[in-house]
Amino acid sequence: MTDQIRFLMCDPEHYDVDYVINPWMEGNIHKSSRSIAVEQWNKLHHIIKEHAIVELVKPEQGWPDMVFTANAGLVLGKTVVLSRFYHPERQGEEPHFKTWFESQGFTVHELPKDVPFEGAGDALFDREGRWLWAGYGFRSELDAHPAIAEWLDVEVLSLRLMDERFYHLDTCFCPLSGGYLLYYPPAFDGYSNRLIEMRVPAEKRIAISEPDAVTFACNAVNINDIVILNKASQDLRNRLETAGFRVIETPLTEFLKAGGASKCLTLRITEPVRTELHATTQIDTRTIHMVGHLLDAGLMNRALDLIVDGGGSFKVLNFNLGEQRQSPSEADVKVSAPSAEVLDDIMSQLIDLGAIPASEDEQESRREPVPQPGTAPDDFYVSTIYPTEVRINGTWVKVQKQRMDASIAVTYTDEGPVAQCKLIRDLVIGEDVIVGTRGIRTLHKVENRDQKAPQEFSFMSGGVSSERRVELMVEQVAWELRHIRDQGGKVVVTAGPVVIHTGGGQHLARLIREGYVQVLLGGNAIAVHDIEQALMGTSLGVDMNQGVAVQGGHRHHLKVINKIRRCGSIAQAVESGVLTKGVMYECVQNQVPFVLAGSIRDDGPLPDTQMNMIAAQQEYAQLLQGADMVLMLSSMLHSIGVGNMTPAGVKMVCVDISPAVVTKLSDRGSLESIGVVTDVGLFLSLLVNQLHKLTTVYQTVS
Ligand code: ARG
Repeated sequence: MTDQIRFLMCDPEHYDVDYVINPWMEGNIHKSSRSIAVEQWNKLHHIIKEHAIVELVKPEQGWPDMVFTANAGLVLGKTVVLSRFYHPERQGEEPHFKTWFESQGFTVHELPKDVPFEGAGDALFDREGRWLWAGYGFRSELDAHPAIAEWLDVEVLSLRLMDERFYHLDTCFCPLSGGYLLYYPPAFDGYSNRLIEMRVPAEKRIAISEPDAVTFACNAVNINDIVILNKASQDLRNRLETAGFRVIETPLTEFLKAGGASKCLTLRITEPVRTELHATTQIDTRTIHMVGHLLDAGLMNRALDLIVDGGGSFKVLNFNLGEQRQSPSEADVKVSAPSAEVLDDIMSQLIDLGAIPASEDEQESRREPVPQPGTAPDDFYVSTIYPTEVRINGTWVKVQKQRMDASIAVTYTDEGPVAQCKLIRDLVIGEDVIVGTRGIRTLHKVENRDQKAPQEFSFMSGGVSSERRVELMVEQVAWELRHIRDQGGKVVVTAGPVVIHTGGGQHLARLIREGYVQVLLGGNAIAVHDIEQALMGTSLGVDMNQGVAVQGGHRHHLKVINKIRRCGSIAQAVESGVLTKGVMYECVQNQVPFVLAGSIRDDGPLPDTQMNMIAAQQEYAQLLQGADMVLMLSSMLHSIGVGNMTPAGVKMVCVDISPAVVTKLSDRGSLESIGVVTDVGLFLSLLVNQLHKLTTVYQTVS
């Protein structure tokens, strides 16, 4: 039976390390010894010949890697899928291997140009012939897999390689007879590892350690119960022997310098066909359409990068480049991924970027009923800040109450279906929830070609904004505030206690008094320290005029809380004349509604503080409705909370001394956001001055 097994090898007559196309070759150019290589190859040849028949293909001058016949192609029965090498350095091997296969009567299939696939180096049959494991990520393209499945009529399981040292599947993965698998799990992404674990039971998985992996232990030739490899640790040897294998070590160090070992040096050309099995792949594809300044605004790069980073592959079907500076471009891109699950992940990110289903791919959204009050189906779509539409009964329905990190709930009324963003805890039985990523699109304004969202924020990551930069920002914000006030618009301020500690209280109070603020959102602390300052002249015990800590001042805020509690509320404290100035005073006097959301560290709290967090979130969301601008002043928690509730299109200005906070807010990536890294007290004082300047000039003109 063994004499039926055949391998193809190629004499190392022209073998050398002539170039670098993988990390093993680095530093090894012309460093391998031809004589040692010949000796090592002969030994391997000899060992294999004891167990199988070896055919030889003639080595060709100028193609030093031709010794690695695993990369000639992939053979099943009498059919071959010829390799399409990724690197030009090896592409010249293709015709030589093709000639050999044809001379032996194989049917040769060739992939389209630009769809690389490196043969049995990247595709390994389960030794029972049940399916084909196919690698991608470095040398072979995922898009090659469906064609391979079809030509060879097998099931293809796609595995994504993540570590460039293990650039071919056969460097880190070796199916063995009896359903065993020798492999190095860290070379694969999480999805691939799960797939492997689903197909190969735990007792059959021989996961190797890094020291074995880097001596190419997985690059083994398996013939029935023997395993031929360069080197194995004692532990690995024991484990293979316990599983019933006989390990034969044969040194191949000269070939390791080119990134290959025993398996790479051989190609099994007798793979039995199992006629009862047929072609399948889990690969899923979808076509998307993109419009906008795809090149100038970097949208195309971002889209293609996230497809590849997400484990997928793409084919640009059309690209219409806008001709003028302001003309948008359009593109259709076919996206594929190793499974529907991975595709959904990629698609949800593409949808966030504004990609829409291509018209021939326009499909009904998938919906599932709420399984239990306050929970969504597992696969629910998570909303973003962008205006969203979902396809229901063949038409696009606009989603109401847009916010991020919610689900999309659908109900059916006489006027048609209604879709709205809903927090999962608010879902009720009877509602449907959008699941998956089909039939969903987000609408992005075709941005001005000069606006680049990431750049807008990049100056902040460099640290504190320069003085002039802050002034410019202040001028812009002042202009907007005036404009919104004159239009009768709505400005929401979120503020932390730092506003008071840095001396900004008086300025914020003035903004409220002058009608620039319509809502104040914060926590217990901003109110406590504002009132402390109003009643006792200190903020957290620090004298706000002298800037020094007052004896026993750390108790002040507790006295203040107690006083307000006695009054019953902040409003009552104002009414009874206890509270006569400050931020909270101005809110009460000017009927500016406020919400103070409590937290675990609150002292007191003040009677106005909402300690029921769900109620606090609802009150925040309520007051945020219809906002034109949100001014976020040094409060990470409240600002991020607000950011999540606010749809795109609302201007956000985030001021914080910590660049991390500002960057965090900028992750929304919305163009309307401005970040200023500076002291908030200073910012407010500049802002108030600037508004004063604008207003007085205005008055003299009129
Ligand atoms: N130098 C060759 C390359 O980088 C080594 C090929 C090893 N072959 C393999 N099946 N892993 O392409």
